[in-house]
Amino acid sequence: MIKKGVKIFQTPFETAEALAMELLRRVEESNKKGRYLTIALSGGKTPTLLFTVLADHFAGEVKWNNTHFFWADERMVDPDHPESNFGMAFRTFLIKVDIPAENIHRIMGENDVDHEVARYSAEVGRYTEKQNGLPVFDIILLGLGNDGHTASIFPGNEQLFKTGKICARVVHPVSGQKRITLTGSILNNASEVFFLISGKDKAHVVKAILEENSPREFFPASLVNPASGKLFWFLDMEAASECSFKNAL
Ligand code: 6PG
Repeated sequence: MIKKGVKIFQTPFETAEALAMELLRRVEESNKKGRYLTIALSGGKTPTLLFTVLADHFAGEVKWNNTHFFWADERMVDPDHPESNFGMAFRTFLIKVDIPAENIHRIMGENDVDHEVARYSAEVGRYTEKQNGLPVFDIILLGLGNDGHTASIFPGNEQLFKTGKICARVVHPVSGQKRITLTGSILNNASEVFFLISGKDKAHVVKAILEENSPREFFPASLVNPASGKLFWFLDMEAASECSFKNAL
């Protein structure tokens, strides 16, 4: 039995395209209501296809002036560094669409990390409504690491789901790279959270999270469960390949 909110598609492109359509529907709704929409993006490789679809397939049709982009996490590198999450989104998407510069709220990876935690937290606070005393993002897009991390909340950092902080400095457990991440408390305060997951290398974690009571302390992504928001999993067949419900298509 497929879980509520789980959507499976044949290919990475179809998965990205379906998610792009969902996002564009919300952009248009916010335009109709004349209210702005806050979207926090994730990095890594998976969203590249989503950004390319958004830019190449819908560029001329969408009015982005009410949409404000933030990041769920960032590597503490310069924005033009190949590993910058902002840099990837900029090259594949933002530079190709007509969006006001003031609508782009990147985490400044070139800054001192503690200074940037404070600065970015304040910027998030300025542009979001509050619920439970914490900022509410309309949409947060998340990826999944094959160790069960999401954003930059790595195994062993589950305390980030119990903090009152907006974002935190963390260190990648393997590379030692400094990062800033939205906390799990913010992820779980969002109105809608969308996981976009492709590839066989994630299948074991997807199964552990969606089908088994995976030991929560090993897979931080399993702790993402918006208190009053909606959670969606956009999976391609490979990412869903170890799940029994994949045949329920
Ligand atoms: C990051 C991301 C991270 C990513 C996963 C999956 O900064 O790396 O925010 O959480 O979503 O690591 O990355 P891939 O899409 O490259 O597999």
